Amino acid sequence: MEKTNVGIVGLGTVGQGVAKILLDHGDRTARHAGRTLWLKHAIVRDLSKPRDVNIPDDILSDDIERLINDESVSVVAQLIGGIEPAKSITLRLLESGKDVVTANKALLAAHGPELFDRARELGRSIAFEASVAGGIPIIANVSQCLSANQITSMHAILNGTSNFIISKMDLEGADYNEVLKTAQELGLAEADPTMDVDGSDAVQKLAILAHLGFGARVHWSDIPKRGIDNIQACDMAFAKQMGYRVKLIAYAKLVDNGKGIQLCVGPMLIKAGEPLAEVQANYNAVSVVGDAVGPVFFHGQGAGQMPTASAVVADLIDTAVGRTDLTFKTLELWADGNKRVEFASPGELEGRFYMRFDVQDHPGVLGQVTSLLGEQGISIASVIQHEVGDGPAKTVPLVMMTHAAKESAATAAMTQIAALPTVADTPERLRILD
Ligand code: HSE
Repeated sequence: MEKTNVGIVGLGTVGQGVAKILLDHGDRTARHAGRTLWLKHAIVRDLSKPRDVNIPDDILSDDIERLINDESVSVVAQLIGGIEPAKSITLRLLESGKDVVTANKALLAAHGPELFDRARELGRSIAFEASVAGGIPIIANVSQCLSANQITSMHAILNGTSNFIISKMDLEGADYNEVLKTAQELGLAEADPTMDVDGSDAVQKLAILAHLGFGARVHWSDIPKRGIDNIQACDMAFAKQMGYRVKLIAYAKLVDNGKGIQLCVGPMLIKAGEPLAEVQANYNAVSVVGDAVGPVFFHGQGAGQMPTASAVVADLIDTAVGRTDLTFKTLELWADGNKRVEFASPGELEGRFYMRFDVQDHPGVLGQVTSLLGEQGISIASVIQHEVGDGPAKTVPLVMMTHAAKESAATAAMTQIAALPTVADTPERLRILD
């Protein structure tokens, strides 16, 4: 049987999972690739670090030049995190004639278009299935299986840590800090979970999907984002009363007759029973709508050693047999400026909103709030204010659901309402995903 020599750079959690599959399940890779995927080099920074996988001594090395200079290796899984040295190593691998497979979403979200362009110039490819939603094969599906479609929207849960926390808060009424601690004890959340809970991780993955699905070459830091780190239990409870769940959603929608793309990440209300609303624990999900296929839903493990390794090894096989080129062709299509869609102004983002104002329970306050909403052209669909009796509690939550309105109008109204002396200055506003 023919052989494709493979290298791995970085033997962290995912790298070890990839090595395990390559070393223990050569039969599977051979069956699907029609050739043996032979692990020839595993490059690490620290040779003395303990590892769960037994790598033969002649494969393990801390000298990347061995891999770079080995012309018999045609594809490398580059599995180090962060921007540098991952970016320089990726470029060197490409320049030495190797195709690259990576799980590094931070690198692709910041420098993807530039790395893809360089790979194309060199006649090489970069495969990145594992960079978005871990084990869910969303990259191959968007770029290959759904290639007959114009994708019109992608709404996704792309951060398992946030979904674990918010699901437990919703289902069990649990406190944010307690659930975060549990997630850390279970190894589901990082010791420093900032990038997960503030929406950065999800927005990086959204930037990659937006490039692939719509040709939006946007830097992730330009996409508006909010995480789950300041979500209040009372808003989850109100949402529940009205038949909704709150989820951290990565949102992409084609607008302006296909010329623009709206992108954002934030906690949103979704009607209970909708597939995305029911995604629990640390699972990820992506809901894609294509103009021919209609809605398609993907669900699975978005992180973890073996789910991520599953995606990396599939990419190694695809690269070995030349299928990665299909994904790369999609990116190439978008590299043509005429076909690209532009990132639409966030202020134009339209949708319904959940709003909560803590107001003084005085005559005329509801009227003040509704007239400021009316001045911005925002129509109210429903209102909740629970009776609190005649005790000393003079501030009550006033909860409203609006009809569709522009983000800019909602922002202006919220600012004016928060400035009213009868309203506490910390109103809440969450988008409703319809
Ligand atoms: N930390 C991420 C998550 C997985 O919680 O989903 C890696 O992107």
